[in-house]
Amino acid sequence: MPFNRHKQRTVKLFVSLLFFYCIIITANAQRVCAVAEYSKKQLQSNPTLAAAYQAVEDHIYNTLHAPSASRDTAANELIMIPVVVHILYKSSDQNISDAQVKSQIDVLNKDYRRLNADTVNTPAVFKTFAGDVHIKFCLAQVDPDSRRTNGIVRRHTNSDYFEADDAMKYSAQGGDNAWDSKKYLNIWICNLGSRLLGYAAPPGGPAERDGVTINFDAFGTVGNLRPVFNKGRTATHEIAHWLGVKHIWGDDNCGDDGVDDTPKQQYYNYYCPAFPHVSPCSPNGNGDMFMNFMDFTDDACMNEFTNGQKRRMRALFATGGPRNSFLSASACDSSQAQGGPIGDDGSADKGTDVKPVDPVKVYPNPTADMISITCKTAETIVGKTLNVYNMMGTLVLTQQLKTAENKISLRQLPQGAYIIRIDTDKKTAVTIVRL
Ligand code: ARG
Ligand code: ZN
Ligand code: CA
Repeated sequence: MPFNRHKQRTVKLFVSLLFFYCIIITANAQRVCAVAEYSKKQLQSNPTLAAAYQAVEDHIYNTLHAPSASRDTAANELIMIPVVVHILYKSSDQNISDAQVKSQIDVLNKDYRRLNADTVNTPAVFKTFAGDVHIKFCLAQVDPDSRRTNGIVRRHTNSDYFEADDAMKYSAQGGDNAWDSKKYLNIWICNLGSRLLGYAAPPGGPAERDGVTINFDAFGTVGNLRPVFNKGRTATHEIAHWLGVKHIWGDDNCGDDGVDDTPKQQYYNYYCPAFPHVSPCSPNGNGDMFMNFMDFTDDACMNEFTNGQKRRMRALFATGGPRNSFLSASACDSSQAQGGPIGDDGSADKGTDVKPVDPVKVYPNPTADMISITCKTAETIVGKTLNVYNMMGTLVLTQQLKTAENKISLRQLPQGAYIIRIDTDKKTAVTIVRL
C-alpha cells in the first residue's frame, strides 16, 4: 500500500534525522547539531510529539494525493501571515532596529513570491521547477487583545545567551510568551550564543513553542549582520521548516525530503559551490540544487523554492491542516484594531487614542419579536448599518442604527434562524433565532 510505505519511510527518515546529524557532520558541527538536539530533546520530553509530527505528515500526504479540487485552500489564493517579532536583548546591539525587522519582512515577501532579484542566478535546468509560494507576510497590526500594534515586542533579558531549548519562548525564563500561534507566526530574535543561525519548531508541536528563533545578527539585511548570512535567508529557511519543508538532502546520506522536484543529494552544501555540483546520488548531471533555500549555502547563493516545496507548504493550510487557522487570521488589517498600543515596558494603556474593546450585544436570543442592539459607546454603532439575512443569504431587513441602544422588531419575519450583521469596524455578525 502506498500509504503504508509512505508511513514507514517517514518514520525511518525521522529516526535518521535524529541520529545522523551528529555523526555525518564534521565541519560546522556545533551549528547543525543544535538543531538535531532540539528535535531530540523535544521528543524526549514530550512522548506524544512523534505522533503529532506523523499526523502532519499524513495530512500532507493525504492532501497532496486527494483529487485536485481539494488539494489547496482556494486555488493558489494569496495567504496572509501576520508576524510578531519578539526581540530579547541584554546588550543594546541585540535590540535590533525596526528598520532591520522590516528589511526581513521585505525579504520574505520577495522570496515567498519568487520576486527576489537573484532568481536570475537559478540555473536554467532548475528554473523550470521554481515556484511562487504565494504567501505574504506582514508585521501584525492588531495584537491578541485587539489592540493596535506594530508587530514588534521588545523585552530586556538577563540571559547572556539562549540555546535551542525554547527558553526564549517563555517570559518566566527570560524570554517572551508566544502570541496565539493559530493566528500569528511568532519570531523570537535573541543571542543564540553558538554558531547557530536559527531554528524552527515544525508544525504539530505545542502551541506555546510554535514559531522560529533567529539570531539577532542573521535577521534582515540592514544592521550589524554576520557576513554571508546578511541577506535574510535564515528566516526564509526557518519559516519553510515551520511550514513543513525539510532539508533538501533529507537529513540523511542521500535522504528524501518528501519532495519530488528537488533532486536527491548526498549531503548539505556550505559556501557556494560551482554549478553543477554532482554527488553519488545525483539523478543526472545537473547535480545538487544547492541554490535551494533548504540547503545550507550562503545567503547570496540561495534563490529558490520549488513547486513541490510550495505544494507541501500550502497543504498545511487545507482543511484539517495545522496552519488552516491562518486563513481566517486578520491581524494584517489595522482597521480590526480597537484601542491603542501597549508599551514595551508592559505598562498599561499609553497614548490618548486608547479605546477599550466595546462589544456589541444583541439580545434576547432566541426572540419572538424585539431584539436590542446595544454597546457602551455610541460611536461604535451609531451611523452603522444593520443587515438581517435569512439562511439562504437573502437580505430581509436593513436599518440604520441611530443610538447606542436600539430596539428592532423581527415580528414580520418568518420563524427561523437569521444572521444579523453590523458593519462596525469589527464587522459584528451574530446568528439569532426568531421563535
Ligand atoms: N538552521 C540553519 C543553521 O543554523 C539555518 C541555515 C540558514 N542558511 C542560511 N544561509 N541563512 O545553520
Ligand atoms: Zn534547517
Ligand atoms: Ca527530493
